[in-house]
Amino acid sequence: MNGKPMIDVQRLLQRITDFAAIGATRAGGVNRQALSPEDRAARRLLVELAFARGFRVYQDDVANLFIRREGRDPSLAPVLIGSHLDSQPTGGRFDGALGTLSAFEVLETLQDAGAVTERAIEVVSWTNEEGSRFFPGCMGSMVFVGAGDLSNWRETRGADGARLGDELAATLSALPEAEVRPAGHSVSAFVEVHIEQGPVLEREEIPIGVVTGVQGTKWLEVSFVGEAAHAGTTPLEFRKDPMAAAAEAIVRLQEAIMPADPLARLTVGRMAVEPSSINVIPSRVTLTVDIRHPEEDALASIEARVEAECRSAAARHLSDVYIEKRFDMAPGKFDAAVVAAIENACEGLGVASMRMVSGAFHDALFLSRVAPTAMIFVPCRGGISHNEAEFVADENIEIGARILFETTIALAGDKASRGL
Ligand code: GLV
Ligand code: MN
Ligand code: MN
Repeated sequence: MNGKPMIDVQRLLQRITDFAAIGATRAGGVNRQALSPEDRAARRLLVELAFARGFRVYQDDVANLFIRREGRDPSLAPVLIGSHLDSQPTGGRFDGALGTLSAFEVLETLQDAGAVTERAIEVVSWTNEEGSRFFPGCMGSMVFVGAGDLSNWRETRGADGARLGDELAATLSALPEAEVRPAGHSVSAFVEVHIEQGPVLEREEIPIGVVTGVQGTKWLEVSFVGEAAHAGTTPLEFRKDPMAAAAEAIVRLQEAIMPADPLARLTVGRMAVEPSSINVIPSRVTLTVDIRHPEEDALASIEARVEAECRSAAARHLSDVYIEKRFDMAPGKFDAAVVAAIENACEGLGVASMRMVSGAFHDALFLSRVAPTAMIFVPCRGGISHNEAEFVADENIEIGARILFETTIALAGDKASRGL
């Protein structure tokens, strides 16, 4: 590969290691859930690194964090690059952090070179991308693009009982040195580096995925409500058993949805049982259903099927059912010019790439509603993600960061730039 200036891969790898120590789990992953003390510590470290390099730092109402390196013309909308720092409860060290820290490496590389870009470049760390502690995911980017109403979410309780409004306030006040800015400033383009979180790039032995779009996701929360009763004394015909209903609905959906359509995904990832006692028929079983599909119509039919199966299973077990939609993200397409900029960067550095659609959702999908956007994927071992064993080879981290660097300076106006 050629091209100057060069990102400092050792520095980037060290940063990834340093951030992975915040919320580190014994199995080598991270537990740095949104707006938790660990998330706050990671933000603090990023801000300290930013101030050490003389960058300006901002946060908005939803605690999206921005680090700005000024351009030649401050009146132009900045190029935005970045990802998120929050993690799953048993997350890996790369999901989110890789994109945020690769973006920060771009700023540091420009700073080292004393380069001047036409537009400012801002690194962003979006708040609560994962959505595992507080519904919904991509909360920060939704607020940023006007697709979500923060005032409605303040009362949301996390999986651990914490109130979102309190955790957000604590997170904002933990960085008093950040300048406050309203959510949703104008952006000339957004680029996010991320691990693929699937097996395709590794299998094809291609180091870069140029992401042209993201499949749709819906999250449903389904509560089956029956009647608590004695496990030993209640005959079948008297049982109003929401666990039996839930189990039956899950089995029917597993048999109906994915075997019929290789593009469909359905996951029941969380289940809460009340009162959760070995010898009590439960009164309530609440479960989450995550459904995904690249086609909006197919996603809508899956949703309808989930509702129908849950209602009929509830009826068979004399239970009620309540279904709430917690997240609804239509499939989206990325911008052809940003996709081309990433492909040009690959060509320029002699790096093989392939186009792909993301199976995971990302903040980039919301950003694509307000600014030209695309993503850069790097392979992860075995396609494993949302798992403490998540792993990306150093050489792929380096390639991803170099492609991000080249793409960013092209979008930030390298023709008028000095030192590049
Ligand atoms: C993102 O974390 C997703 O669940 O796709
Ligand atoms: Mn992610
Ligand atoms: Mn994730």
